[in-house]
Amino acid sequence: MKKILFDHYKDFLPVNSSTPMVSLGEGFTPLVKSLNFSEKYDCDLYFKLEGCNPSGSFKDRGMFLAVAKALEKKKSKIICASTGNTSASAAAYGARYNLQTIVIIPSGKIAVGKLLQAMAYGAQIVSIKGNFDQALDAVKQISDSMDFEIVNSINPFRLEGQKTGSFEIVDELNQSPDYQFMPVGNAGNISSYFMGYKLYLERKKIKNIPTFFGIQAENSAPLVDGKIIENPSTVATAIRIGNPASSDLAKEAVNDSQGEFLKVSDEEIISAQSLIAKHEGIFCEPASAASFAGLLKKINNGLDVKNKKIVCILTGNGLKDPENAQKYLKSKIIKTSSSSESIKKAILSGSSTNIFKRMF
Ligand code: F0G
Repeated sequence: MKKILFDHYKDFLPVNSSTPMVSLGEGFTPLVKSLNFSEKYDCDLYFKLEGCNPSGSFKDRGMFLAVAKALEKKKSKIICASTGNTSASAAAYGARYNLQTIVIIPSGKIAVGKLLQAMAYGAQIVSIKGNFDQALDAVKQISDSMDFEIVNSINPFRLEGQKTGSFEIVDELNQSPDYQFMPVGNAGNISSYFMGYKLYLERKKIKNIPTFFGIQAENSAPLVDGKIIENPSTVATAIRIGNPASSDLAKEAVNDSQGEFLKVSDEEIISAQSLIAKHEGIFCEPASAASFAGLLKKINNGLDVKNKKIVCILTGNGLKDPENAQKYLKSKIIKTSSSSESIKKAILSGSSTNIFKRMF
């Protein structure tokens, strides 16, 4: 039986006897050791596959708790602004627990898979001429008068639930990683991991939280540039955010751990996405690949990774964004007849994309 976050980490979560148990099977996602890149860079690199959550992203870790607390308060309506994944997650839990779910999204800037999820789960979708930051402002303004429970990461229970990601990593590695690389958008997840590590490591009497590297996209990098970005843009639509709500806590995470915010270009993001897919068999969405792009950038700039334990959080599933995959990750399809002779010829005319020669 798969473990349930709500039960397994009860002692670390703000739940009590009147909190209804909410679960869609979230959490306990694979922490997969990189084979080819660990060897290449002489380190222990792990990918945390958050795309294996029920709605395909890490958001479910916070959503189960935000929804449980909404139910505890007898709320019947939830609302969020979203670049896509929060809306998919809210819509999924809203459907399961009979809540009216409203999602406010920036028109034309959410990946098609995420939009289809919100539709399939039956949410009410409002698409605005504006970006995520404007959508979140609107949500804050209307939610009280309409008696909505906000399930964005400004809801503290979202961050409480997302702490479980750090608990799992510590439980699995039996220590804290040396470095953690993760994408940063609204800055909730990095804040949550920071709080989670601090809490859990103290209880387990393990010293040293990981050094946090928060990765933003080049033209959506308010925490790197030190200013609000009015018109953020990036291929990684999930982190297309110019005014992160949890900036202060995210800065604390980075400063306290002697880490850093850094930005990567769209080209670096797509290249990292392709490398992880082609050489580790893991297909994550562009925003998630920003974490690995950040690691590669740091290695190129001289970060000592030898024998270090490094975790890249791969926040969402690659299948959510088929349009970008089709645009940037497409490879040649060899067309032929059904005869075995011509199929054989077609195979021999192709070439492998594998650059690693390691045999298993
Ligand atoms: N990666 C993915 C796949 C995301 O969807 C998000 C955020 C992030 C990283 C960044 O996390 O905001 O906690 O810093 N997506 C939100 C959404 C904004 O609406 O789905 P963050």
